[in-house]
Amino acid sequence: MNWFTNFLTSSIGRKLIMSLTGLFLISFLIVHLLGNFQLLKNDAGEAFNVYAKFMTSNPLIKFISIGLYAMILLHAVLGILLWSNNRKAKSTVPAVGYRSEKVSWASKNMALLGILVFAFLCIHMGDFWFKMKFGEVATVNYGDGEVKDLYAKVQASFSSWLVVFAYIIGVLALGVHLWHGFESAFQTLGFNHNKYTPLIKSLGKGLSVILVIGYLILPIYFKLFLSA
Ligand code: HEM
Repeated sequence: MNWFTNFLTSSIGRKLIMSLTGLFLISFLIVHLLGNFQLLKNDAGEAFNVYAKFMTSNPLIKFISIGLYAMILLHAVLGILLWSNNRKAKSTVPAVGYRSEKVSWASKNMALLGILVFAFLCIHMGDFWFKMKFGEVATVNYGDGEVKDLYAKVQASFSSWLVVFAYIIGVLALGVHLWHGFESAFQTLGFNHNKYTPLIKSLGKGLSVILVIGYLILPIYFKLFLSA
């Protein structure tokens, strides 16, 4: 176990785990967005509610969800530790031969953006996930047993401009975090190639824009056209 503790406490070990958990979390974001698009079906929430029931009762998905929560926490904790170590290192005199490189605003502020995304996630999960699991949510019956009416819950939440505003801030912070994070993860994993690195950078930026637009369409559309 000693090698594992050494790995977890080394800067490169932490960065590798950050990259792998980050890429897993991006794949979750793509699946989550595709699932949420069922909210846009013109069926008063039936497809979304049936889908939500499946996602919360299927044993395999329940198991993957536990991994997801663990990865969110690991990514957040290691991110803060790396940030704090980098700060300490920067306060010491730079080594001989040190050249200051041009770095983007996103790359300099990954920790701040990560904290904003985490704060958003706490609000988001408190409102939907926690209430779905432990709170009182009305049920509906589409002919195959009772299912929780999560669609009505989403509709009620997105009726408030304050909630929509929180989503705009949280999702924009997520987009900027991914703008740098996607290419940075591949770099840490050692993908450095004249031909493929520019492709990975463009893919990361394209994906960030698509996720931001996709995740913002939902609260804004609900607020403007489907307010409860
Ligand atoms: C803007 C549109 C969004 C909508 C409508 C939405 C909707 C939902 C709903 C209804 C749930 C509860 C599902 C359940 O417990 O069955 C949920 C869970 C969750 N959402 Fe979102 N979400 C949105 C954006 C986001 C974003 C941007 C993130 C990440 C930063 C995110 C991360 C999560 C996570 C981690 C869970 C818990 C998943 C699980 O338990 O497996 N969501 N979301």
